[in-house]
Amino acid sequence: MNADSLRQYLEFYQDLGIKTLYRRPGLVPEPAPAVAAPVAAAEPEIVTPRAAQAEPQPAPPPTAMELPPLAPPDETLLQIIQDLGECTRCRLHTGRNKIVFGVGDPKAPLVFVGEGPGADEDAQGIPFVGRAGQLLTQMIEGTAKKEGIEILRKDIYICNVVKCRPPENRTPEPDEMEICGQFLYRQLSAIRPKAICALGGTAARAVTGHKEGVTKMRGKWFQWRDIPVMVTYHPSYLLRPYNQDAKREAWEDLKKVLHFVYD
Ligand code: URA
Ligand code: SF4
Repeated sequence: MNADSLRQYLEFYQDLGIKTLYRRPGLVPEPAPAVAAPVAAAEPEIVTPRAAQAEPQPAPPPTAMELPPLAPPDETLLQIIQDLGECTRCRLHTGRNKIVFGVGDPKAPLVFVGEGPGADEDAQGIPFVGRAGQLLTQMIEGTAKKEGIEILRKDIYICNVVKCRPPENRTPEPDEMEICGQFLYRQLSAIRPKAICALGGTAARAVTGHKEGVTKMRGKWFQWRDIPVMVTYHPSYLLRPYNQDAKREAWEDLKKVLHFVYD
């Protein structure tokens, strides 16, 4: 591979928010039991701030490295699903029943991003169908109706940061988020919504790159590439009976994002 096409690869993946490329063991003699070969940047943030792209590219690594195939910039959700296949790229594949890719309108102007599938989602292969999902559906459809916006759940798109259920519904680990997050970024690139709504701290971190708690971030606009991102509470959090204030705040956030997208 020449320097030009290597640069093209690196820029494309950096644009998707990917900062670490993994070297497959066995391809080249390993100097040490290294796990990852960071090529684009040293810090572990998942999302690359736009400004960082102006920084000089590091020199190509001295050893041969297998790069993932360069995905076409205009790939479809179907092509992404096909590439995902029966994915075993991270440890979460061992406990899953079904991969939960995403559901809704592939041309939706609004995408909701959750954390990862729970038990019901894992059984059905559809995101947000359990108790939290029913609350989310009710919140989207109820708020829209009240605000005079004629949309239903089927008119938006819903997916998660990781596509396989973490054991005991634990929070996804940083490496799982980074590996599976590449597919989330490709979904977002394919859909190109007018806005994204990140549900809870994990989604907020993955999509915005900011690491503050969700209580600090909620109700504010961030960005993923050039797309506005609203952060709000995860519906699971709102299901706890003592969270009435949070519930009210989440409705406010939802109103904001719905009016931004549909007015
Ligand atoms: N919680 C999530 O984050 N995602 C789902 O799909 C369901 C529950
Ligand atoms: Fe693959 Fe994502 Fe499932 Fe990990 S969570 S195995 S990266 S689909």
